[in-house]
Amino acid sequence: MNRNRLHSLCPYFAMFPETFARDQLEAHTKPGDLVFDPFSGRGTTLLQSLLMGRRAVAADINPVAYCISGAKATVPRLSSVLRRLEILESQFDPACEESVGKSLPEFFSHAYASAVLSQILFLRHSLTWRRNHVDRFIAALVLGSLHGGMDKSPSYFSNQMPRTISTKPGYSIRYWLRHKLLPPSRDVFDILRKRAAYRLSAEVPLLRGSVALTDARKASEVFAKFKNQVNLIVTSPPYLDVTRYEEDQWLRLWFLGHAPFPTYSQVSVDDRHTAPTKYWEFLRSVWSGVAGMLAPKSIMICRIGTKHQSIEDLTNGLSLSLRGVFPDLRSLRPAVVSNIRNRQTEYFHPGTTGCLREVDFAFQLT
Ligand SMILES: C[S@@+](CC[C@H](N)C(=O)[O-])C[C@H]1O[C@@H](n2cnc3c(N)ncnc32)[C@H](O)[C@@H]1O
Repeated sequence: MNRNRLHSLCPYFAMFPETFARDQLEAHTKPGDLVFDPFSGRGTTLLQSLLMGRRAVAADINPVAYCISGAKATVPRLSSVLRRLEILESQFDPACEESVGKSLPEFFSHAYASAVLSQILFLRHSLTWRRNHVDRFIAALVLGSLHGGMDKSPSYFSNQMPRTISTKPGYSIRYWLRHKLLPPSRDVFDILRKRAAYRLSAEVPLLRGSVALTDARKASEVFAKFKNQVNLIVTSPPYLDVTRYEEDQWLRLWFLGHAPFPTYSQVSVDDRHTAPTKYWEFLRSVWSGVAGMLAPKSIMICRIGTKHQSIEDLTNGLSLSLRGVFPDLRSLRPAVVSNIRNRQTEYFHPGTTGCLREVDFAFQLT
C-alpha cells in the first residue's frame, strides 16, 4: 500500500498504523458509511476513512490531537497554504518577539536558536488554528517540526529531542550540556513551505471529516447530528498505565497556547488511569457517551495498550465496560495480541519502558 503523506504530518505517541485502520475499514464498511474514532490522536482512522470514501467523525480531548486530526479532516490547497505563509512572513518582525523570548524559561534558549524561537513565537500568536483550516494545517506542520532528531532531519526546529514526546525541561538541558549540543539554525518559514509542498503534492482526501475538541464522554451531545448513524468505530483509548499526554506533549501544547512548562493537572487533557478499576469505569462512561451515535449492528474495533495487565484482565475489563452499556454485544473474534519492542524515545532516553503489548478487540451490537 502506498503510504499517504498526510498520515505522518506529525508524529504522535501511541498511534496505530494506517494499515490497521485500512484493514478494519475494508472488512467492516462500504463507501459512504460513517466511521467514528472517539480517541482520534493524530487522526489515523479519520484520514484513512476519508481516503477510502467513508464519512468520518473524530473526537479528542487534547488540543494537539485536535489540531493534527483537524488538519486532515479539512485539507487545504497547497496554493492557500503558500499564500498564507507569504503573508505571515511579510508581517513577521523579529524585534517584536525578542522580549517574549527572553521571558521564557531557560529550556527555550537551549532548545531553539534565538532567530528560530522568534519565528515560532510569531506563529504561535498569529495562527488562528481553532477557527481557520489553513492556519490549522500550518499549525499542524509546526507541531510536526517543533522537536525531533536534528541529526536525523533538517526539518526539525529544535536541539536534539525525540520526535514523538517532549522530554522534560531539566532532563533536556542536562542532556544538551552533557553532549555539548547547540540548537540548529533554521528558517521556519522555508521549512514549512517545503513540508507543505511535500505533504500536499500527493493524494488528498476528496471528502471532509468532522473533528471536535471534546471529551469522548460527551460525543453523542457534541455530534448530535450523527445520531444513530455510526457504522464502525476504530479506536484506541489512552493506554492503560503507559503515557501521560499532558506531560509528554507539553512543548506542542505550549505552541497551541498552554504554559511554557509541563503541567500535571488531574483532569483536562488527560485521562490516563493507572488503577484498572478506574480505567474500566472511565471506558464504560465513554461507551455510554458514544452510544447515541451508533447505528444498529455497528461494529467496534478497540486497540488497548498496556504495560502490566494480562490479556485475560484486559479482555474481562473491556467486555464488562462494554456490556454495562450494550448488554447484547457479541464478540466477533478472539483478542489479537502484538508485543512491542522498539520505542522511539530509546535513542534519546535509553532504558525507559513504555507500552509492552497491544491487544485488539472486535465487537458488534446485535
Ligand atoms: C492511544 S491515543 C490514540 C491514537 C490514535 N489511534 C492514533 O492513531 O493517533 C489515545 C488518545 O485519547 C485521547 N484522550 C484521552 N482521554 C480522552 C477523553 N476523555 N476524551 C477524548 N480523548 C481522550 C488522548 O489525547 C490521545 O490522543
